[in-house]
Amino acid sequence: MRKIVLYIAASLDGYIARPDGNIDWLTDKKYTIPDEDFGYSAFLQTIDTTLMGHSTYKEVMGFDMPFPYPDLKNYVFSRSAHEDTEYVSFVKDNPVEFIEKLKEQDGKDIWLIGGGQLNSLVLNAGLLDEIILTYIPIILGKGIKLFSEDANEHKLKLKPTEGNQYRNGFVQLKYSC
Ligand SMILES: NC(=O)c1ccc[n+]([C@@H]2O[C@H](COP(=O)([O-])OP(=O)(O)OC[C@H]3O[C@@H](n4cnc5c(N)ncnc54)[C@H](OP(=O)(O)O)[C@@H]3O)[C@@H](O)[C@H]2O)c1
Repeated sequence: MRKIVLYIAASLDGYIARPDGNIDWLTDKKYTIPDEDFGYSAFLQTIDTTLMGHSTYKEVMGFDMPFPYPDLKNYVFSRSAHEDTEYVSFVKDNPVEFIEKLKEQDGKDIWLIGGGQLNSLVLNAGLLDEIILTYIPIILGKGIKLFSEDANEHKLKLKPTEGNQYRNGFVQLKYSC
C-alpha cells in the first residue's frame, strides 16, 4: 500500500508558522545553500498526490507565484463546500474515509503537506506512515503547531539517516509512525 509521508519544516520549538500563518522565518534567504534543496526534489520523485488543509492552501495561494504542484493530484480539506479548481479537488465529507480509500489506490506515495490540523487528523486516524521533519534553527515562541492540540499521543521510531545536518543549521529527521 502507498505511504502517507508528512514532509515538513518546523522551528526548534515545534511551530510550522507564525500565529498569523506567516512562514517568512522559513524562507529566509540566509538559509540558502547553492545547489542544495535538502532532499526536496528526490522526495518529489516518490509522490504523486498531496493533501492540504484549507488554511495551508490559502497560504500557498497567497504566495506571489504560480500554483507549485500543477503536475500532482492535490486534495484540499475543508468543512465547507468549494468549487474544484484546475489544480485542486476539495474534500468536505468523511475525510478519514477519503484518505483511507486514497491509500488503497495504486500510485506513488502521498505527501501530507500540512498544516497542523490536517496532520493531527491523519495521525489520529492511524494513517500516517512516515515523517520527514526539517528542524530550522530558530525559536519562535508562539505560532501554529506541527500537530494541533487535538493530536493523540503517538510513539515514533527514528529511521537511521546519514548526511542529515546542513551547514545552515538545518537538521532533518526521519521517523516511521
Ligand atoms: N512549515 C511548513 O513546512 C508548513 C507546511 C504546511 C503548512 N504550514 C503552515 O501551516 C499553517 C496552517 O496550519 P493549520 O493547522 O492552521 O491549518 P490546516 O491544517 O492547514 O487547515 C485547517 C483547515 O482544514 C480544514 N479541516 C480541518 N479539519 C477538517 C476535517 N475534519 N474535515 C474537513 N476539513 C477540515 C478546515 O478548513 P475550513 O476552515 O475551510 O473548514 C480548517 O480550517 C499555514 O500558515 C501554513 O503556512 C507550514
